[in-house]
Amino acid sequence: MVYPDHLRAQVDVYLEALRFPSRAPRTDGLEDAMRYSLLAGGKRIRPVLALATASAVQVDPQSVLPLAAALELIHTYSLIHDDLPAMDDDDLRRGRPTCHVKFGEDVAILAGDALYAEAFRHLLSAQPGEPARVLSAARELAAATGVDGMVGGQYLDVAGAAETPADLRRLHELKTGRLIGASVVCVLLLAGVRDDADETLGWRRFAGELGVLFQIVDDILDVIGTDEGLGKPQGSDERHGKTTYVTEFGLEGARKLAADSHAAARATLSSSAPHGAPELEQITDFIFTRTS
Ligand code: IPE
Ligand code: IPE
Ligand code: MG
Ligand code: MG
Ligand code: MG
Repeated sequence: MVYPDHLRAQVDVYLEALRFPSRAPRTDGLEDAMRYSLLAGGKRIRPVLALATASAVQVDPQSVLPLAAALELIHTYSLIHDDLPAMDDDDLRRGRPTCHVKFGEDVAILAGDALYAEAFRHLLSAQPGEPARVLSAARELAAATGVDGMVGGQYLDVAGAAETPADLRRLHELKTGRLIGASVVCVLLLAGVRDDADETLGWRRFAGELGVLFQIVDDILDVIGTDEGLGKPQGSDERHGKTTYVTEFGLEGARKLAADSHAAARATLSSSAPHGAPELEQITDFIFTRTS
């Protein structure tokens, strides 16, 4: 499976160098918990997507590394909280004991809170670019992770609020699609593309579809994967009676929907980047065919 590993390597080096100190030396334990989860080795799909989008619009990928890091900090926070006993109650993540198993629930909650705040601090203080552009990227990231975004989607998930296939798609769009979408859209905003331009609309459609595809595949892997392969517990959705693409459409139905979503994502990508965007094409294919 082809994946832009050179972009992933840049992200990993950048994240490794991030520190979260305070003026009180005794917060070291909090930083340890944050870095434990951040550096456990995820696929880095969101930051890699940001770097790949930059190269698709002729911007130096290195120049969006602060934004890319902010995306991964926020994603890591969402995983720490998602795994808590009050939520999915999972004890394995990225092949390691989850943050709360290792550091306790209290510290894990705070590590998530701190990663969220540090993500915005980093974006607003380290991202080069015209202040108005950086602000609009920050606004997009906040919106994508708020009530009309990831956290709203997590609420619909825990509340068991999805009753129809349209509800389920909406839940996926919010829970996973919005942050994946922001990984593309924030880069366009940094590049100065006007938010109401037709150009952004096409990219938004691509990014939204990619997010839904990502979560359909995640639902399938929860059923057919292994703890070892996934680095997280297989069968978590079933244990919690979650409504997923597999419970609603069966395994074959979910696979068919994933194939349709993949085709739709590739088609919207072709119209947004008519001269080709090889790394984004690779990521789109990877998200469809991934096994972890
Ligand atoms: C898992 O995300 C959580 C979902 C949004 C489904 P990833 O599959 O991207 O997790 P990592 O970052 O590779 O660990
Ligand atoms: C969580 O979805 C998505 C987040 C916003 C963290 P899941 O609960 O399906 O994610 P996994 O399967 O635990 O990674
Ligand atoms: Mg969950
Ligand atoms: Mg979960
Ligand atoms: Mg899942």
